[in-house]
Amino acid sequence: MTTDPENDAGHWVFGYGSLIYKVDFPYRQREVASIEGWERRFWQGSHDHRGTPKAPGRVLTLVSSPGRRCLGMAYLVEHEVFEHLDHREKNGYERREMQIRLRESGDRVTGLTYFAGPDNPAWLGPAPIDDIARHIDHSHGPSGSNRDYLLDLARALRKLGADDPHVFALEGKLRSSRRAG
Ligand code: SIN
Repeated sequence: MTTDPENDAGHWVFGYGSLIYKVDFPYRQREVASIEGWERRFWQGSHDHRGTPKAPGRVLTLVSSPGRRCLGMAYLVEHEVFEHLDHREKNGYERREMQIRLRESGDRVTGLTYFAGPDNPAWLGPAPIDDIARHIDHSHGPSGSNRDYLLDLARALRKLGADDPHVFALEGKLRSSRRAG
């Protein structure tokens, strides 16, 4: 989806990962929101934020999941903000149009989300949950540890009241591995 710079009404962006808790861009409005038919998965490699090209971390993308709902945060932003977001999400993500439901009003709006599909060069894909947890526990990049990406996300999702078995299972594994070690 292209964004019209002349659009005075602004543009909605749906965040399901770090865009929920790391808000380093201006916005006009912020709303708890969801998208239907998608789920979060730690299936995308990170060469530039939570890992390096030689040792990529694991970050989130969306996978199609009919009947499921992904809860996140929607921001109404100015066109200029996409320059920053496109740079931040450059490692394999592309903008994709989605129907977004705003929780409080129940309104449905059209907006964009940053989606990384299986054909992008940084894609890692599925793996057993213990392997993903170990991978996250050992990865670091210019934006910090991969562990903090996961724990900050889990904290933010809990605050929103999100039900996310994938994220909370990984959080449990990471916390228990540190207790055991
Ligand atoms: C998002 O947060 O919506 C995209 C993925 C990420 O930056 O974690």
